[in-house]
Amino acid sequence: MIQEKKNMKVLIIGSGGREHAIARSVKKSPKVDEIYCAPGNAGIAQIARCIPIGPMQFEALADFAQDKEIDLTIVGMDDPLVGGIVDVFESRGLRVFGPRKNAAILEGSKAFSKDLMKKYHIPTAAYEVFTDAQEALAYLRTAATFPIVLKADGLALGKGVLICEDLAQAEEGVREIMQDRKFGSAGDRLVIEEFMTGREVSVLSFVDGKTIRPMTSAQDHKRAKDGDEGLNTGGMGTFSPSPFYTPEIDRICMQTIFQPTVDAMAAEGRPFTGIIFFGLMLTKDGPKVLEYNARFGDPEAQVVLPRMENDLVEVIEACLDERLDQVELHFSDQAAVCVVLASDGYPVAYKKGLPITGFENFEDKEGYFCFHAGTAEKDGQIVTNGGRVLGITALGETLPKARANAYAATQWISFEGKYMRSDIGKAIDEA
Ligand code: AMP
Ligand code: GLY
Repeated sequence: MIQEKKNMKVLIIGSGGREHAIARSVKKSPKVDEIYCAPGNAGIAQIARCIPIGPMQFEALADFAQDKEIDLTIVGMDDPLVGGIVDVFESRGLRVFGPRKNAAILEGSKAFSKDLMKKYHIPTAAYEVFTDAQEALAYLRTAATFPIVLKADGLALGKGVLICEDLAQAEEGVREIMQDRKFGSAGDRLVIEEFMTGREVSVLSFVDGKTIRPMTSAQDHKRAKDGDEGLNTGGMGTFSPSPFYTPEIDRICMQTIFQPTVDAMAAEGRPFTGIIFFGLMLTKDGPKVLEYNARFGDPEAQVVLPRMENDLVEVIEACLDERLDQVELHFSDQAAVCVVLASDGYPVAYKKGLPITGFENFEDKEGYFCFHAGTAEKDGQIVTNGGRVLGITALGETLPKARANAYAATQWISFEGKYMRSDIGKAIDEA
């Protein structure tokens, strides 16, 4: 048998827990022997060479990839994808995984994604799009029913969605998004959307332009406080799989949402290669799309990738070579739970630069992962460097066991102001 060549150099773009989880999976691939990450963090630095180039410095990143003869670049983050990093890399003949700018708009513009769903009859909440604040206000005062959902059109760090209980809140929301421009140009257009109720589920999928292969399901907890109280955050914890996402629902989603979305993008002349993240609401009228993202979720990647049994690099190469139809994905039967350790005060104001201890407790512990999100190294010591500091993931035979394991492991780490939710994955007890 021919020995598999182990010589690929891989560059990962991003610096969060998602990129740490991607780096860990890439590291396991027998095809890879060098990993770089721009800009990375203190945890990623233990398995990859971190380089101080920002994710929006496309030309500098492409120069680096050319100089180092990088064989594959994986873009973890939304901003560079929406900004067109893939087009820049491709124009230089570099192999890069992620949607081009004209396809990343699926995440970059909510108005685009809503119009696409309407045109191709993909189930989603009813909506209207406004470019004028007065018209939006007039609509809210005359035609709206409450609660109602306001969404800034563009990227807003996951914070541009407001759920308004009454007219006064909605008027305030229009002011924040369109007039005070709290989310900058993301507020040029406003989507006003019907409020849906049901269980939320996230499904990440690999896409090669034509074929889609959904990964396992997951669920995020976006609010800062227990019981889904407090402000929206990037995500305080996840579990996978979701017991509410049954094989029957999966079949319906494949027929009415997943494949139709990929076909719609191709029909629009915007073939999508990369990861599509479907944010779904399981309503009483069936599954509907809450949102699309054009990349792995964070912290969803921190529970999905540790359960994935395929070689991540092989699946990505199959996407790039348009042969995903020949790939079957396999996920471990074990469940996974990720609890985010945040800095007290997140998502508003919090301290940085505080020393973190206890990492050695994770050494040689199978089924436990300490993914770094906001960390840095200062004088040989790992310190906090962001609101979400670490993602503590554990596997277990069942979701409750994975949950118990993850919470036990959160105690292995100490830093001043360590904050976490205590109810990540608790809903699974009801399943
Ligand atoms: P998004 O960034 O679009 O995922 O929205 C953030 C969160 O707002 C979602 O995870 C939902 O919890 C909630 N949300 C968004 N759109 C709706 C909707 N139409 N109805 C109810 N909740 C929504
Ligand atoms: N956890 C949600 C996201 O990555 O957008």
